[in-house]
This record gives sequence, structure tokens and C-alpha cells, in this order.
Amino acid sequence: MMMARRVATVAAAVALAAALLLCGAEVEAEVGQPPVARGLSLDFYKRSCPKAEAIVRSFVQDAVRRDVGLAAGLLRLHFHDCFVQGCDASVLLDGSATGPGEKQAPPNLTLRPAAFKAINDIHDRLNKECGKAGRPVVSCADALALAARDSVAVSGGPSYRVPLGRRDSPSFATQQDVLAGLPPPTATVPALLGVLSKISLDAADLTCPARGTDRRTPLDVRTPNTFDNKYYVNLVNREGLFTSDQDLFTNPATRPLVQRFAQDQKAFFDQFVSSVVKMGQIKVLTSQGQIRRNCSARNPGTGMSSWSILDDAAESEPRLLISY
Ligand SMILES: *[C@@H]1O[C@H](CO)[C@@H](O)[C@H](O)[C@H]1NC(C)=O
Ligand SMILES: *[C@@H]1O[C@H](CO)[C@@H](O)[C@H](O)[C@H]1NC(C)=O
Repeated sequence: MMMARRVATVAAAVALAAALLLCGAEVEAEVGQPPVARGLSLDFYKRSCPKAEAIVRSFVQDAVRRDVGLAAGLLRLHFHDCFVQGCDASVLLDGSATGPGEKQAPPNLTLRPAAFKAINDIHDRLNKECGKAGRPVVSCADALALAARDSVAVSGGPSYRVPLGRRDSPSFATQQDVLAGLPPPTATVPALLGVLSKISLDAADLTCPARGTDRRTPLDVRTPNTFDNKYYVNLVNREGLFTSDQDLFTNPATRPLVQRFAQDQKAFFDQFVSSVVKMGQIKVLTSQGQIRRNCSARNPGTGMSSWSILDDAAESEPRLLISY
């Protein structure tokens, strides 16, 4: 089937966010900011790296100007990281003898190598600015969360503040975890909702856009590299490219939200911000974990045995639409 594989584009990324947002939201309710997770804070680097946010923003602005597809790539990388094992930069680790990294698992095919490289480059700049005696101060997971945030803004989407202070995992998810965390493109709305509920996301979160972003198969054929509500407009007009996307409009649980977001871009932006901030705090490491020197590799002398993430991995990983 020609639709079997989804690729990322901003529109697709928006599509995921869009889909995320649709499930569970109260149609008329005001969307509040989700609480800041314990151990994180909005000004975490205020003293240790006051220029961190400015460094990331300027990098993303320049890089996206040169490669417009990078914005979607970074947003998807952040989602991908969060939905498999939590927002711990595990997706950035190169595979090693202990098993395949998230990059090697099948959904890897939809993650852009340029996005991985961009995070390493951003992290290098942060280390140069703020590293103390070669020891980095800003985690790779935070660098990724900020880069995703700036990618949204630079593409015309909403600006929002990101709680910071995540630490990086010394271990990556197994290929099995990755498969369990990412649903097949055929997943139905109820199936997706069931998975999201395990990580405390709901229908409104599901209806957020993030499905794909690349110019090969833009989900939003009108504005593929702009972060806007056209994904929902297309669904209402029955122009969803994939059956499972169109299902968001036909399913009574998500239809009212699709209609609302199609009519009201601000409502969509507000819900997106709430959902992405919530997603960005899934199972974050604060007292555990490390701040990687190299985003592609765990720090020397650390490994799987330092702490365990294996206990509930199979049960609790959400499936996600972002990678299709
Ligand atoms: C993606 O994952 C598959 C399955 O593990 C692997 O065979 C393939 O080489 C990977 N591709 C890339 C580009 O890493
Ligand atoms: C970071 O780690 C990767 C994977 O081990 C390695 O290939 C790369 O050379 C490292 N980068 C630097 C700057 O050391």
C-alpha cells in the first residue's frame, strides 16, 4: 500500500499533535497549563547557563532557514523520545553492544539524521558556553525539548515555555520497547486513546498534530512546512490522507475537537501547548540519570546496571502516532 509508511513533515508533526489534541479534551473548556513536574523548573539554567535558551533558539532559526524540513524532524524526535521510555534523550544514543538503540529500531526510518546531528551541534554549543571543566551543564533531553519548542515557533506555531531540568538516561530502550511504544499506522482512535491513557494523556492530547513532516508525503498538502490548523481543516473537508487520520473526524470522541480546531486556530494552539508541555514531562529523570557529554553516547563508566528502567517498560509505554 502506498500509504504504508508515513514520513515526517511539519504538517505531519502537526497532524500528530492534532490527533493528540483531539482525544479527551473538553470541547469548550479553557485549556490550562499543565503542572511543572517535580524536579523541573522554568528557570532551571538561570544561573548555570543563562544563555541556554537563546543559544538553542538562534541555532534552530538558522538551521531551519537552511533546511525547512528540520523543524518537523526536531519536533518528531522529541515526541519519539518521550513516548518510548520517557523524555530522557534515549532516542539519541547510538546503538552499542548491549542492544539496539532507538535509532536502530524500525521507526528509525522516519527519523531524520539531520535532526540527530542538529542536537549534537546544539549541545556542543551549549557545552562551549556553559560547560565546567569539560563537564556539560545542559542535558541532551533539555536541548531536544528546547529545539522542538523553537521549531514550532519558527514554523509559525505558538511560543511556549518549557520546564527544564531533565537528565539523560544512561540506557536506551530495546527494539521491543520501541515497537511497543509506537502504534501501527492502522491503529484506531480507541486503541490510541487506550495507550495514551496509560501515560495520562487524553483525547485532547491525541488530537494534536505531529504525524509527519517531510515533503515526500505531506499530510497537510496545503501548508506542509507551516505549523497551523490546516490538518483539521483537511479532515473536516474529508481530505485526510490516511484512513486513520480521517478516523479522527468520523469518531465521535474526537470529532468535536477536529471541528473546533478547524474553525479556531487559537484553540488548537492553546491545546497544543498544553499537550506538548505535558508530553515533554513524561517520565523525566531528575535525581537519577546523567548529563551526557556526548548526546550519542552514555558517559564513560555508566551503563544499564546503574539503575533499572526495565520493570514496567512493556506495560507503560504509550503507543504513538508521531512516527508514522
Ligand atoms: C532501521 O531499523 C532496521 C530494523 O532494526 C534496521 O535494519 C535498519 O538498518 C535501520 N536503519 C537505519 C537507517 O538505521
Ligand atoms: C559521540 O559518540 C558517538 C557514538 O559513540 C561517536 O561516534 C562520536 O564520535 C562521539 N562524538 C564526539 C565528539 O566525541
